[in-house]
Amino acid sequence: MDEGGAALEAVRERLRDVRSVSALTGSGISAESGLPTFRGAGGLWGTHRVEQLASPDGFASDPQLVWTWYNERRAAHAQVEPNAGHHALARLESSVPDFTLVTQNVDSLHRRAGSRNVLELHGNLREARCNRCADIRPLEGGIAFEDFEHECGGRFRPGVVWFGEALPADVWEAAAAAVTRAEVLLVVGTSGIVHPAASLATHYAAPRALIVEINPEATPLSEYADVVLRGTAAALLPRIVTG
Ligand code: OAD
Repeated sequence: MDEGGAALEAVRERLRDVRSVSALTGSGISAESGLPTFRGAGGLWGTHRVEQLASPDGFASDPQLVWTWYNERRAAHAQVEPNAGHHALARLESSVPDFTLVTQNVDSLHRRAGSRNVLELHGNLREARCNRCADIRPLEGGIAFEDFEHECGGRFRPGVVWFGEALPADVWEAAAAAVTRAEVLLVVGTSGIVHPAASLATHYAAPRALIVEINPEATPLSEYADVVLRGTAAALLPRIVTG
């Protein structure tokens, strides 16, 4: 473990001369933009009922409640800006031939920071999707979405992945392939307890890959990391990404 010195310098050097890099991010990377994480002090799942707000059964029992919560979150996302951590990963993409950003976040901050090759494992809040026919409807800005009846008889739901649901297969396959070929995997701001996302670090990273964890706290992924940088994403990512 090394907060500054040699380990950080070694990661910076490696990133200067590498062909294939992936990053796996979680809600911690958006904390310094002002968005809450899910677990820990102030986390969303400390004050909100996950089974009510993030499950197909919860949506079936009270779609209005679910939409109200996601509309509030979308409005909160629109009021914050990407931070230095998001921007550093966007810069890294422009200097690495093969860069893939795999995120569990639904806040769109990586895209707003300029990242292009973004795989959103848990979907996004830019879209609603019909729960019967899978028709997609874009959601605009922070405007409340109330019109959730679809003409097929289904209901529009937020375009995110809920507990008990499979990840979108094409996104997952692309993420697994990217992580498998990565020479460096940056694991940033995730507690590493939600699967299958966490298994990208524990099972899909190549044995020879350099796994770097950036997180102020220890996680179950720490023991898989070759380098652990204890600190925040906005403080540390700009220091390992030059240029
Ligand atoms: P968690 O809330 O589980 O974990 C957030 C992590 O970010 C913790 O390990 C913190 O220590 C770390 N952290 C906090 N501030 C940080 C900072 N400034 N810089 C770097 N790290 C920081 O959030 P996720 O791992 O994203 O899924 O949670 C994974 C999934 O669980 C989410 O995508 C969501 C949730 O339920 C769904 O909704 C399907």
